[in-house]
Amino acid sequence: MCAARLVIDPAFRVAPVRRRTFGCFVEHLGRCVYTGIHEPDHDTALEGGWRGDVLELVRELGVTVIRYPGGNFVSGYRWEDGIGQVDERPSRLDLAWHSMEPNTVGVDEFVAWCRLADVEPEMAINLGTRGVQEALDILEYTNVPSGSHFAELRRTNGADDPYRIKLWCLGNEMDGPWQIGHKTAEEYGRIAAEAGRAMRMIDPDLELVACGSSSRAMPTFGEWERIVLEESWDQVDMISAHAYYYEDESGDLASFLASAEDMDRFIDSVAATADAVGAARKSDKVIGISFDEWNVWYQQRAESRPPSGDDWPVAPVLLEDTYNVADAVVVGNLLISLLRHSDRVFSANLAQLVNVIAPIMTAPGGAAWKQTTFHPFALTAAHAKGEVLRVALDSPMVSTAKFGEVPALDAVATHDDESGETVVFVVNRSTADELEVEVAVREGAGTLVEAVTYSHDDPYWQASADDQSVAPEANESAKLDDGVLTVTLPKVSWTMVRLGR
Ligand code: AHR
Repeated sequence: MCAARLVIDPAFRVAPVRRRTFGCFVEHLGRCVYTGIHEPDHDTALEGGWRGDVLELVRELGVTVIRYPGGNFVSGYRWEDGIGQVDERPSRLDLAWHSMEPNTVGVDEFVAWCRLADVEPEMAINLGTRGVQEALDILEYTNVPSGSHFAELRRTNGADDPYRIKLWCLGNEMDGPWQIGHKTAEEYGRIAAEAGRAMRMIDPDLELVACGSSSRAMPTFGEWERIVLEESWDQVDMISAHAYYYEDESGDLASFLASAEDMDRFIDSVAATADAVGAARKSDKVIGISFDEWNVWYQQRAESRPPSGDDWPVAPVLLEDTYNVADAVVVGNLLISLLRHSDRVFSANLAQLVNVIAPIMTAPGGAAWKQTTFHPFALTAAHAKGEVLRVALDSPMVSTAKFGEVPALDAVATHDDESGETVVFVVNRSTADELEVEVAVREGAGTLVEAVTYSHDDPYWQASADDQSVAPEANESAKLDDGVLTVTLPKVSWTMVRLGR
């Protein structure tokens, strides 16, 4: 057993916990929409064809904002295909995922579902095959009250009141050569700036996200952000970041468990680049980061391979990764990283919500169930409140091939002045040793409300529809004595401790 120490003080404030940190992503990809959130013939289907069992799990997950409709899909999407009479909507080839898009669900249905799920809609526009005009058209459709062509069309389609969608992504991963309508940084920066400028002429209060890099490993990373922000500085509020992590085939669990090191460096580099652009412009504006795709994704596996040739199926099985306990510990740690950067990460989206690299899975006509990754997300979303606190940390180190020596322990805390609750989120990234952690809580920790740990002797254990037996459990080792919390963390584990006044 190794020992580690944490110091928590309500004075170590970073920023308020942003509710948008707990966003997810729904793309027209595989079975995320069709047989994921939408399945009119399902036993639990509600009016509109939404799966009631999935909606219940989405509410339990605590999702706050949903990015839609893509992803790579959006770069070939014609939003008008998805409005009006459902049986008159065209089927289209979705080139991004080599699938057939029936357009049964479009923007009106998506907003209706968001209302049922009590989440904020976040729209992405197509800057791959389309441009400024189509961005203005969809914005007019969603946000203009009445009188104009597209506003009246929305009213004819049943929505009298405008949706007033605030958060918009100006395209998706335009730095990626795989993207339909891929652009250079200069080309993209120009169109993002012009789309943003024109969109604000309709609605000045929009919050606009420019595409950053689709990973820190992209050869253009850094330069891409600099050029895009130089072009679009006055028009955008945030720049995006995307990151997917996985344990490689060599079985390097130690490096995989330290994935949050990469996310930390990614966020710090994007913030530094944005600040450098701002400094050169003598601007006080702070560009936020929208970490609008993050997760564990085993991209090399067969389940991520799209169909090919003449096969253009509707809602094929794609990217249906099954997650294990170690994956959930990494997801919990990535949330720790996002929270500790709440001064800079204004919004984030776990990619994705249902079936496609998702915390929720469904069987068509059958059950809906939680993957392992559901648990740290749901508990963090439910209990991270008030202010984010940076923690002072003293931990034994673990060796990793990818990141060198990293602390075995990683942690962040939140403190809510109103309820008086301080919550510590912590991971033990050691593959070999338990950690006994001593937490000195300065001010106000009078009671131990709850300590829960997610771990298993076998870090490769996976949940399924029939086996949900490994769930977060009370950590009986936790003790609070005179403002000092002690708790033992199993190897490869995620833990949340709630302390009251
Ligand atoms: O989330 C899956 C895909 O990953 C998205 O469509 C794309 O934006 C990213 O490359």
